[in-house]
Formats: sequence, C-alpha cells, structure tokens
Amino acid sequence: SKGGHASFMVKEMLEQPEAVRRTIQDRIGIDGSVRLDGLGIEESTFARINKVVVVACGTASYGGQIAKYAIERWCRIPVEVDLAHEFRYRTPLLDARTLVVAISQSGETMDTLMAVRYAREQGAVVLSICNTQGSTIARESNGVLHTLAGPEIAVASTKAFLAQVTANLLLALYLAQFRGSALREETFAVAKELRRIPDLIQRTLDRAGRVNALAADLREATSVLFIGRHVGFPVALEGALKLKELAYIHAEGFAAGELKHGAIALIDQGQPVIVIVPSLRHSSLLHAKVMSTIQEVKARGGWVVAVADDGDGVVAEWADEVIAVPESSPLLAPLLTTVPLQLFAAGLAAEKGLDVDQPRNLAKSVTVE
Ligand code: BG6
Repeated sequence: SKGGHASFMVKEMLEQPEAVRRTIQDRIGIDGSVRLDGLGIEESTFARINKVVVVACGTASYGGQIAKYAIERWCRIPVEVDLAHEFRYRTPLLDARTLVVAISQSGETMDTLMAVRYAREQGAVVLSICNTQGSTIARESNGVLHTLAGPEIAVASTKAFLAQVTANLLLALYLAQFRGSALREETFAVAKELRRIPDLIQRTLDRAGRVNALAADLREATSVLFIGRHVGFPVALEGALKLKELAYIHAEGFAAGELKHGAIALIDQGQPVIVIVPSLRHSSLLHAKVMSTIQEVKARGGWVVAVADDGDGVVAEWADEVIAVPESSPLLAPLLTTVPLQLFAAGLAAEKGLDVDQPRNLAKSVTVE
C-alpha cells in the first residue's frame, strides 16, 4: 500500500533514511570497524583481489561509479565500471584475482545476469549487491551483499539506489580495513560518519518544499543539464536519468570539467543547469573548479541551481538558486545530494500530471537482453 502517500515513489523516497539505516545496521561497529558477515566469499579470496570490475545497468551503474572513487581511494585497487550489456562484448580481462561486483535492485535484470554468467565462466569471483532476497543474480554469484531497502514498487529507483551506494561504501571500507589501507584512520572516521547519515538524509527530505517550488518554476523547461565533478558526476547522471524517466524532459548529465569540451555550446539564455557542488570545507580545490564552471555557464546566460553544503558561503555569489544539503565527507555526499534531484524529478512529473510510479515505456526489471 502507498501508506497514504500520493505515490509509491513518494513513499519510497521518504523511506530512504530507514533503507540506509537497515543496510548499515550491524555492519559498522561504534568504533567504525566494518564487518560483512555471511557474504559467502572467503576473506582469503578478497585478500588476493587485484582488480575490481563493477557491472550494472541504469541507476545501479551510477552507484557503481561511486564505488570506483571509494575503492580506488581507500583500497588502491584499480576499478572499472561497465554497463552490464557492454561488458561481455568487449572481451574484458578477467581472472581468479578479479572481483566482479554486480549491482541490481531486482536481481533479475537479464543484461546484468548475463554479465555475471560470463564473469564466472572466465573464472572471476562474483559478488552481487542485490535488494531482492533469493534473486537469480544473487544465486548465480559466488557471494551476495544484500541491500535492505525493502520492496521497491515504483519503477524508477530511489531508496534502492541510496541503499546500493551505502553497500558500495561498506564494501570499500571493509576491503580497505582488512587488507590494510594507507588511509586507515579515514576509513574508520567515514564509517562512523556513515552511521549518522540516515539522520542527514532525513534533514534533506525535510527541505522538500524548496525543491518542489523549484520544480514548479521549471514546469515549462524542455531541457535541463546536470553537472558535477568527482562523485558529483555520477550524481549528475542520476539526476538527469530521473528527470527523463519521470518527467519526460530532455536531460543530460556531464562531468563539470567536460563541459568546455563540447556541451557548453548548448548553453544559451535561460538554460537551466543543475550543479552538484563539492564540499568547500573538505575539498576546496574541487570546489574552486566547480565554481569556475558555474561562472562559464553564467557568462553564457545559463540559469544555475546549485546543490551545495549548508556551510558553503561562496556558492550563493554565483548561483541563481541554492539547494542546501547537510555537510558530509566527499564520498558520502551522494547519499545527500541525490535526494533533492529525486524530489525535483518527482515534483516536476507531478506538476505535469504524470504517473511517477509507472512511467511510459519502462518496466521495473527488464528480463530480456
Ligand atoms: C531499468 C529500470 O530498466 O533497470 C531502472 O528502469 C533500473 O530503474 C535498471 O535502474 C536496473 O535494474 P536493477 O533491478 O538491475 O537494479
């Protein structure tokens, strides 16, 4: 049941603090140590991994891109992220020291399942991150890390995405802690911070009114661009996908630094551009780079909405609108910055009278290749 909400999607967005809390529960100690029991893969197997390949489709693949930043930083293991349907057609290099991480809410997406089968044939170790218990992808993997978001009914993923990002971070922190990380203290500190993230997601949801007002302002938009840098880049891709899926508006996500290499030609008077701004306090260098991208957009008449940290006193000088989210460590920020983008897409769809639970042409899980 929708529990009195206008749609399953609204209900599921509001369940995000709980989805993340359950995914974390019992997996992070109060000291910040991460334990992943019952994965079905031995620690000795994880200890010999020298490469990680993430395979997934759609929203799940953007979560996978966030895993790359975390695993490479904390574990110093090279990570590739591939769309599952591209993966086996490029003759990827896989062996027994490759960990393939297959991310799927349903656990039934055929493209992802075929990638899992291919990886196992090649002798790789496959860990799936699935939300549905007993799914095909989970059964056919060597091990499974469940996200505990609960059933997701709306076709476009919201709470399962945040739970996937959480699981990806848990995996990265776990590998870093038991393999030994040069950033050991950081991994414990971030794990402790992750325990507090559900409350910050709640605070972000509590600010929905402001985002809905923005959605109403942009009701007539025919194109919206999303840009981000570092983990803000996959968040931008997810924001654009949500807007396409729910509101049928042309949207594209770009890496902020890539804009000047082509897409900036799209910017003209009034073009809405949503910018995911990195934390000023945690990464002033990245922040400065994104500020200069905002200035490039503004100079060409673009209309900039920044999603930025509460404490960011600089961004308001440049952006037309600021949506503030609570401050967090850079790698945790996607768990917060994604939320206003989901609310924005759902709000715009509602403005247009569209069915957010069952968008046209889409299915919850695509079981054909
Ligand atoms: C798509 C859905 O077809 O499949 C997306 O519309 C989803 O919302 C993607 O992200 C992957 O699904 P799953 O179940 O493998 O995570």
